[in-house]
Amino acid sequence: MVIKNTAMKSANALFDLTGRTALVTGASSGLGWRFAEVLAANGANVVLAARRVERLESLKAAIEQSGGRAACVALDVTDQSAIPAAFDAAEAAFGPVDILINNAGLAVEAMLMDMSAEDWRKVLGTDLDGVFFVGQEAARRMSANGNGGSIVNIASAIAFKVGKTLGAYAAAKAGVVQLTKAMGLEFASSNIRVNAICPGYIETEINSDFFATERGQQMIQRTVPMKRLGDTQDLDGTLLLLASEAGAFITGTSIIVDGGLVL
Ligand SMILES: NC(=O)c1ccc[n+]([C@@H]2O[C@H](COP(=O)([O-])OP(=O)(O)OC[C@H]3O[C@@H](n4cnc5c(N)ncnc54)[C@H](OP(=O)(O)O)[C@@H]3O)[C@@H](O)[C@H]2O)c1
Repeated sequence: MVIKNTAMKSANALFDLTGRTALVTGASSGLGWRFAEVLAANGANVVLAARRVERLESLKAAIEQSGGRAACVALDVTDQSAIPAAFDAAEAAFGPVDILINNAGLAVEAMLMDMSAEDWRKVLGTDLDGVFFVGQEAARRMSANGNGGSIVNIASAIAFKVGKTLGAYAAAKAGVVQLTKAMGLEFASSNIRVNAICPGYIETEINSDFFATERGQQMIQRTVPMKRLGDTQDLDGTLLLLASEAGAFITGTSIIVDGGLVL
C-alpha cells in the first residue's frame, strides 16, 4: 500500500480565498449581502451585482471599512444581453472571475390554478433562466482562460418539498438542483466545480415580519425539527466549503442547510 505524505493545511489556509475574484448576484440584500461579506472577510475580491446599485454601494463601503475589496456592477439577471458586460466590468476591477455565487432570486406566491403566465415567467426567468445564463457566461470565461473555478447556485429546501402557493418557485429551484448536476458533469473537464446550497427558512428582511407573527412562529415550531429559523451566518461554512480549496473534489452536489425542514 502506498501512503501519501500529503502536507497538512490549517483550516484557515484551506478555506482562504485571498486573490480570488468572486461575483455575487443579488448582493443588494439578504443572503447575497451576507455571502459577499463572508467571501470578502476570507480574502476574496468581491464583485457585487444586482439591480439596486445604491444598496450595493453601501455594502461596498462596509466591506472596504472592514479591510476588504469590493466593486459594484448593475445587473438584471433576466437581461441576457447585460450579462457579458457585467463580467467585463468585474474583470476590469479585479481580473477573471473564479467564483460565482448565483444567488439572485425571488418568489411569487400564488395557487397554481390562479397563477398568471406573467408571474410564472417572472419566477422561472429569474430563478432558473437567470442561474443558467449567468452560470453559462461564467463557465465560458473560466474555461477560456484555463483557470477553472467554482460556481455555487443558491437553490432552496423547497426543491425537495413542495408548499401551497410556492409551485413555481419549487419547480424553478428543483430545476436549479438538476442544472447543478448537469453543469457539474459538463464543466468538470474545464476544472469548474458546480454545486448548490439549499437553504431552509433563513431570516432576512423580506420574511422577518412574517416569522415574527403568531402564524410564522407556529410554522417554525410545526415544520422545522430544530425549531428555529436559520440565521444568514448558518450558511457561512457551506459557502466557504464549496467556494474554496476545501471543496476541491466536490461537484454536482446540493447541500441542504435547513434545520431538518425537508425531513
Ligand atoms: N431567505 C430564505 O429563507 C431563503 C431560503 C431558500 C432559498 N433562498 C434563496 O436565496 C436567494 C436570496 O434570497 P433572499 O432571502 O436573500 O431574498 P432577498 O433579500 O429578497 O434578496 C434577493 C436578491 O435577489 C436580487 N434579485 C432579484 N431579482 C433580480 C434580478 N432580476 N436581477 C438581479 N438581481 C435580482 C435582489 O436584488 P435587486 O432587487 O437589487 O436586483 C436581491 O438582492 C434567492 O435565490 C432565494 O430564492 C432564500
